[in-house]
Amino acid sequence: MADKKTTKPAEKHSLSLDDLASLTKRRGFIYQGSDIYGGLAGTWDYGPYGVALKNNLKQAWWKFFVEQRDNMYGIDAAILMNARVWEASGHTGAGFADPLVEDKVTRKRYRVDHFLEDNGVDPSGMTLEQMTAKIKELKLKSPEGNELGEARQFNLMFETRAGVVEDSASKVYLRPETAQGIFVNFKNVMDSLHPRLPFGLAQIGKAFRNEITPKDFVFRTREFEQMEIEYFIKPDGWEREFDGWVAAIRNFMQQVGIDLNDIHELDVPAEERAHYSKRTIDFEYKFPFGTKELIGLAYRTDFDLSNHTKNSGAELTYQDPHSGEKFIPHVIEPSFGVDRLMLAVLSAAYTIEEVNGDKRTVLKLKPELAPIKLAVSPLLRNKPELVEKAQEVYRSLKQKYGAVMYDDNGNIGKRYRRQDEIGTPLCIVIDFDTLKDKAVTIRNRDTLEQVGVKIDELPEQIDPELAKF
Ligand code: GAP
Repeated sequence: MADKKTTKPAEKHSLSLDDLASLTKRRGFIYQGSDIYGGLAGTWDYGPYGVALKNNLKQAWWKFFVEQRDNMYGIDAAILMNARVWEASGHTGAGFADPLVEDKVTRKRYRVDHFLEDNGVDPSGMTLEQMTAKIKELKLKSPEGNELGEARQFNLMFETRAGVVEDSASKVYLRPETAQGIFVNFKNVMDSLHPRLPFGLAQIGKAFRNEITPKDFVFRTREFEQMEIEYFIKPDGWEREFDGWVAAIRNFMQQVGIDLNDIHELDVPAEERAHYSKRTIDFEYKFPFGTKELIGLAYRTDFDLSNHTKNSGAELTYQDPHSGEKFIPHVIEPSFGVDRLMLAVLSAAYTIEEVNGDKRTVLKLKPELAPIKLAVSPLLRNKPELVEKAQEVYRSLKQKYGAVMYDDNGNIGKRYRRQDEIGTPLCIVIDFDTLKDKAVTIRNRDTLEQVGVKIDELPEQIDPELAKF
């Protein structure tokens, strides 16, 4: 059967975002949002394999951070929340705004800090006035060549109305982070489950930010998903807990196929930290467009619970069962963006190598994440006896493994290429020998090794094969 042995080791391939965007569109992972209407900036839709990969990633995260720990609980809060939540959290104020500058002619808006960076200026620590002065000093023009206005703050929350009456009381925001849905449920969970410190509440869900310039594919979007944990602790010894989370995040990244050599841990300086944070480490990944934030880890102190206590009047405290002391717990927050993690996992998996003189593109995804685990094919699709056997094998494997595909489209070489690009770890082929010796061929995505296996022994063979990746 095609594609044996003569493989050259993977070349160091300089991956571009265009390569990834075109592969993921062609293979049904990620499409532009509202595509047939010309798209909507900052939105992306996940296709059949994209949603499978995304679900697998979320499941891997949940298993690692919630199920495999003793002190973690899940939550799923509403996206629409009382507007007072965002006043208490500081999101309605300057703390959750980005600096923008407007083209005086086209009225197009740009993030000033990004605009300055693109023009070779380091904007770290600059005030709005200093940014405006810099633009004037360097006589910088908008990308359309027009004059720019003054730099000003722009709040990133999307506003909408709840109910039929349009007054100030009906104003609601689409949540810009899932974290607040956890803080407002702290008391509910304490009252119903009585967990002891330290413990964590985890949530996966959508978040929305009216980003001034959404860009870099699914890296910076206006609608995205977060996986967040608020880990409640006693204030003493927060440094030890923080270090524990650094180690856990590193382990998780390796588990999903991210090489730690491609991660830069940035200890964010005080002036650049979010308004609630006393320490933040940004785990930055070497994306094809630069080294940028993938995951944030912040020590939020008692900022959120204290502010919600003041603003809601609810008592958000914890009573130590031994000393009887009552206090507001402090919080360590690991915060993951699902879409950014997908982008990192896809970038890490994307490989181009040479097989028998031809280039092949392959997504070397961990089997746990691969959208399809096994593809089953008859060698020829116009031979009823092969098709019947292949269907039989497919049905029994599908029952056991779920994410199994029957693939009889094109010749066997084309099927392998397609499955490589989807990231399918194992392809199983039924040929004429199968009808005599009841053995199929299993082809390994990464090594291209092909082994003959008796149909009866398939389940015992497949699990160790999958574990080899
Ligand atoms: N609760 C803390 C918080 O939301 P953040 O650093 O603003 O912190 C956390 O966001 C993570 O959410 C980021 O590390 C990133 O992975 C993801 N994220 C933030 N804004 C995003 C955007 N516009 N598009 C895609 N992902 C985003």
